[in-house]
Amino acid sequence: MKVDILLGLQWGDEGKGKIVDVITPDYEVIARFQGGPNAGHTLEFEGRKYVLHTIPSGIFHSDKKNVVGNGVVIDPVIFKKEVDALVKEGVNINKSLLLSRKAHLILPTHRLLDAASEKEKGSKKIGSTLKGIGPTYMDKTGRNGLRVGDALSDKFQEKYDQLKAKHERLLGHYDFDYDLAPLEEEWMKAIDFLRTMTVIDSEHYINNDLRADKRILAEGAQGSLLDIDFGSYPFVTSSNTISAGACTGLGVALNKIGEVFGIFKAYCTRVGSGPFPTELHDDMGEELRAKGHEFGATTGRPRRCGWIDLPALKYAIMINGVTKLIMTKADVLSNFDHVQVCTHYMHQGEKIDYLPYSIQDGEITPVYEAIPGWQQDLTGMRSIDELPAELNNYITYLEEHLNVPITIVSVGPDRSQTIHRDSVMA
Ligand code: IMP
Repeated sequence: MKVDILLGLQWGDEGKGKIVDVITPDYEVIARFQGGPNAGHTLEFEGRKYVLHTIPSGIFHSDKKNVVGNGVVIDPVIFKKEVDALVKEGVNINKSLLLSRKAHLILPTHRLLDAASEKEKGSKKIGSTLKGIGPTYMDKTGRNGLRVGDALSDKFQEKYDQLKAKHERLLGHYDFDYDLAPLEEEWMKAIDFLRTMTVIDSEHYINNDLRADKRILAEGAQGSLLDIDFGSYPFVTSSNTISAGACTGLGVALNKIGEVFGIFKAYCTRVGSGPFPTELHDDMGEELRAKGHEFGATTGRPRRCGWIDLPALKYAIMINGVTKLIMTKADVLSNFDHVQVCTHYMHQGEKIDYLPYSIQDGEITPVYEAIPGWQQDLTGMRSIDELPAELNNYITYLEEHLNVPITIVSVGPDRSQTIHRDSVMA
């Protein structure tokens, strides 16, 4: 058996949580491989809505294992709140939720450093979710980090104090006030809670499962254009969000990767700062935001909205090795006369169809093609045959340009609003 990967091809918020939940019945293990509580994976079913930050989106299927891999960074406080909320809803996490011993911990001082750094950057800020993601990954690569395994050792307090002291020295360089004591108290209680969880050597666990022919799905967070290496640097997150991140974030060899499901919205959004070539600054953008409820699931911030960007999607497909595409939020694009598709950019006087080194405002100008829109409400539709001809035309058009089959079309946030499609390309 191989590990399949599901990941976002844009700037995050493509609907990964919903689709992972929908396809979980095909798998025995769902594993997060990077990111942390900067993610907000929204799932809706049976009239209820849940937002997951650290816990994999397979958690509502009681017979599945959900692994938080070594590549993930965990804030014990947020994690505890997530678990408490699930338990309150009657979800049994006892045997199904497993934490990697090698996952790094987000300290309260990591969050403070994130906030202090963003404050200092002023108008040049990244637009971080302020969950301490960047500082935690910096300590990981700087070889100073604390891991879940440390929380189980008797040297934990000593290691914590050392790292905290380093952070306090760093915080002293910023013009930033803080009160650490209450944060620390809550965090230490959450660490006690973390110690009651099932902690595993996740790389052995996953590889043993592979040998036992178990089906594993790796769930990405954020999106490919936020990848630390290939995203719109420096306006990116601090982990590898692309498929290669699943290998390092779970301990899975390259030759053990199977399908790579790439998920994208029928249009495009971005939350936080950074370039966004097809952003709409007019009423149309407002309309997409309102119709698509485009507000961050983690921070509540309004998302920036724009048209679909094919050069950026092709780039994401290339670096991820996407084998199947999944398109979400087709319903939000209803009622437009025409839907605009960015097919190329004008760059240094040339028309190009690839993502250049810099996509900052002024360096590239999108070139659009107008595709006839559809007027029907899609949210009650459950089969491809019911979809309007114009939408089927849009899907085929995208497939032809992206050269990868679109196998699922999502027409609403609920589990049931999902249409499987037999692509002629598949
Ligand atoms: P950080 O990962 O919180 O440091 O944020 C870095 C950038 O990534 C900011 O622009 C965030 O808005 C963006 N970002 C981080 N996580 C997500 C996510 O899950 N969805 C969408 N954008 C995200």
